Amino acid sequence: MPDLNISVWRSGSQNFETFLVPQQDSQTVLDVVSHIQTHLDPTLSYRFACRVGMCGSCAMMVNGIPRWTCRTHVSKVANSGAIKIEPLRNLPVVKDLITDMDPFFDKWIEAKGVFEGTATRSDDMRPVDTTTHQRIEANAAIECINCAVCYAACDTVSGNDRYFGPAALNRVWSLVNDEKDGGQSARLDAISDVGGCHNCHSQGSCSLYCPNELDPAASIASLKRRTASSFWQKR
Ligand code: FES
Repeated sequence: MPDLNISVWRSGSQNFETFLVPQQDSQTVLDVVSHIQTHLDPTLSYRFACRVGMCGSCAMMVNGIPRWTCRTHVSKVANSGAIKIEPLRNLPVVKDLITDMDPFFDKWIEAKGVFEGTATRSDDMRPVDTTTHQRIEANAAIECINCAVCYAACDTVSGNDRYFGPAALNRVWSLVNDEKDGGQSARLDAISDVGGCHNCHSQGSCSLYCPNELDPAASIASLKRRTASSFWQKR
């Protein structure tokens, strides 16, 4: 098999550097980046942890599309043997392929995407009925791995740096449907505010590219309806 032609973003030169990488069966994009760092240039910086699609740390732009690189096979994305790899869009770059995730997670906090428990240690464990519509809605949004692929895919985030983005709002929708959470009023206020759900243009890139096949666009649409009905109930 001919070598792969890999273009990798280097923050030092502010340009792409090209490497030839041996092609192998069942090779992932993360395998390619690891090969470059291990055999060709040890100064290349990138981030990964689990290699099995659980930790969400390995996301990068691959031929212009945000992807989890540990689960993206070269055979699916190589364009005549060529792959262009860049850091995730919409986030500051720390070095080479590593982005600063602080703005992404700061917005989870700002959107109040954090569980607010109401029970104490001395309360009995209260079982949750997993068959209710509310719980099914919560579960549908819950398997986010915080990879920021949706955040990188979102054109609204690109144009509005106050916008919380799909992952934070998807998390909020899961919590809004959590019967054990006690922070609903403040949460609905937060996501009705300047960075909130009503900024979404419903383009759907978040749902298209979510590697876990979640549907943040549907979560955000549901939040728009919920905040509107909450607004009219208060009047
Ligand atoms: Fe953990 Fe890719 S390395 S999701």
